[in-house]
Amino acid sequence: MTAMSSSCTRYVQLSADEFRARLSEALALYVSAMRYPDGTAEQRAPMWLTHALREGWRCIAALDADGTMLGVTYGYKGRPGQWWHEQVRRGLTRAGGDQAAQGWLSDYFELTEIHVRPESQGNQIGEGLLRRLLDGVPSSNVLLSTPEGPNRAWKLYRRLGFVDVLRDYHFAGDPRPFAILGRGIPLDQPVRQAQ
Ligand SMILES: CC(C)(COP(=O)(O)OP(=O)(O)OC[C@H]1O[C@@H](n2cnc3c(N)ncnc32)[C@H](O)[C@@H]1OP(=O)(O)O)[C@@H](O)C(=O)NCCC(=O)NCCS
Repeated sequence: MTAMSSSCTRYVQLSADEFRARLSEALALYVSAMRYPDGTAEQRAPMWLTHALREGWRCIAALDADGTMLGVTYGYKGRPGQWWHEQVRRGLTRAGGDQAAQGWLSDYFELTEIHVRPESQGNQIGEGLLRRLLDGVPSSNVLLSTPEGPNRAWKLYRRLGFVDVLRDYHFAGDPRPFAILGRGIPLDQPVRQAQ
């Protein structure tokens, strides 16, 4: 575990082994943050474990003084053949053609999950997680999908300069409209314009 402190919240980078050891805690946090029904954690566990094996996977956890997890985020290098990549490529190609798809998808880090316990939200832990997750990532862009807002996640992404890549997009098998947002990395780089 690599520690990075900020006030009373400690940020740590979890290795894949540490992530696996704390998977139940991370999934419980995710279910309460997203207000998903019971049973969602068991359903998502195999996918989260598979993600931890992907190239470029990184995970940051925010811990309180007792070591309890307040927030968690992870992502990995996006690649052709991954379900999310192919879904987004399909949407981008339909909306803007191959060039738009190529521009965003040729070299990106997928921010897959970011969640903060409901009782800890609004203290900029989300921003602390996101900044540390992306620090040193060797990709040109970061991309994420989020249910259409407005909500706290949107405020965070906009504040950090994420722009629209695709709006009102429907992933296969999910009736909810999603936005795909992206920006160049590192975060202190100027914001890139939507294509
Ligand atoms: C999205 C999330 C990770 C952000 O973490 P966070 O620690 O709350 O982030 P921040 O404290 O930086 O706050 C984000 C925004 O919410 C706002 N906010 C804080 N408390 C709020 C409240 N009680 N009501 C409404 N907005 C509030 C903040 O002011 C901030 O907006 P700002 O840019 O105008 O200041 C977290 O809110 C969360 O886990 N949400 C539920 C799960 C989720 O949606 N995950 C992302 C899925 S894509």
